[in-house]
Amino acid sequence: MKKAFVKSYGCQMNAYDAARMADVLTAEGYTPTEVVEEADVVVLNTCHIREKAADKVYSELGRLRVLKAARAEVGQDTTIVVAGCVAQAEGAEILARAPAVDVVVGPQNYHRLTDLLARSRVKRVVDTEFPVEDKFDHLPARRTQGVSAFLTVQEGCDKFCAFCVVPYTRGAEVSRSVAAIVAEATALVRGGVREITLIGQNVNAYHGHGADGASANLPVLLRALQDIPGILRLRYTTSHPNDMAADLIAAHGEIPALMPYLHLPVQSGSDRVLKAMNRKHDAETYRDIIARVRAVRPDVALSSDFIVGFPGETDAEFDETMRLVAEIGFASAYSFKYSPRPGTPAADWADPVPEDVKSRRLAALQGLLDDQRHAFNAAAVGTVVEVLVEKAGRHPGQVAGKTPHLLPVQFDAPTSTIGTLVPVRIVRAGSNSLFGEAVSDAAAAA
Ligand code: 5AD
Ligand code: SF4
Repeated sequence: MKKAFVKSYGCQMNAYDAARMADVLTAEGYTPTEVVEEADVVVLNTCHIREKAADKVYSELGRLRVLKAARAEVGQDTTIVVAGCVAQAEGAEILARAPAVDVVVGPQNYHRLTDLLARSRVKRVVDTEFPVEDKFDHLPARRTQGVSAFLTVQEGCDKFCAFCVVPYTRGAEVSRSVAAIVAEATALVRGGVREITLIGQNVNAYHGHGADGASANLPVLLRALQDIPGILRLRYTTSHPNDMAADLIAAHGEIPALMPYLHLPVQSGSDRVLKAMNRKHDAETYRDIIARVRAVRPDVALSSDFIVGFPGETDAEFDETMRLVAEIGFASAYSFKYSPRPGTPAADWADPVPEDVKSRRLAALQGLLDDQRHAFNAAAVGTVVEVLVEKAGRHPGQVAGKTPHLLPVQFDAPTSTIGTLVPVRIVRAGSNSLFGEAVSDAAAAA
């Protein structure tokens, strides 16, 4: 039995792609393994968004080269595949830099993985052309696992923020049709999935073919999905403020299955920096969107992405980011030091912010965001929340699930509750998870 090891870096889109590549390999007769030493095929699904992410790939490939040589000594072949955004950005360069690599395949080409593996027996191969056919039409059926699943509905980005490689690695915005998405979601729900997170680089820019041939936007898609019997929860990520249209904001108050959680990257609180970043909105617009979402969904939990140390960012401009965070209040967030990415407009800009200043700003921002996260988690203590049970918990007799705000909860209940919503009274907030006890419906209502 041949074995395949698939490792994914970076965002949820990559996690989805990695799962689909695993499906392709399974259909080819490979068994998944988590032990890289025993794998006949190793797939690294790479991320190019920040410098560190891309560097990790080359150090991993160095280790794999040693492993491949050791396996060859005992007569075992190892095929090494580099997939994902580093593959797309660097293409044949990877073959030059990493001699152990057999296949380089971009995010739009992995439906051809079987063919590429076969061809690599003769010659090392690179496939990073944007294909004319839709990869989703050429992938084997999804093997579902678990209660909560990602579903790619849109890929690519047309926004061209000055710091970002995505428009180059993932290409232009493309949306799948409502019918294709509903079919995939229906199959997932039949397989036991109860929560679906719609993913895309710019998911709220979704515009796919609708049922009547007209173009459908994200609210239309969400309404189509909420009608699938058995779906309990819907989420979507990640979004751009300029695509938070009025009907999408309204949907947050109208679609009960749409969870009260919004990840809306803002990057900076300074209008000068936002303009330089080519975000095409100002801080006030962001505040206004948040206020409108809160008006229709007062319990919404907010999340965002931030970049500190963008070229030319002054202390005063950074303070504006801190002020925006203090004003809005986030339940969770991702924050990064700016790192120049080759090929992006900002990569060559003058006035870089010194590393120590970046570090200081990042520490200050993360300190504030951590405080907000802890306060948000602590506020759950004493409340009763609906938990979607996903799996057995850390200890026997426990199960683990998530609140509508995406917080992990552990509590005592039989594993027969997996896949159901259970009202849980939160008794304690740990550093990574909440702890609670199941309450009867009657108690929850009291
Ligand atoms: N440097 C630092 N952070 C970046 N991001 C994207 N590109 C860069 C970069 N060059 C961050 C943004 C984006 C998130 C996915 O990654 O905050 O929203
Ligand atoms: Fe990158 Fe900006 Fe597109 Fe997001 S919106 S993927 S940050 S270019």
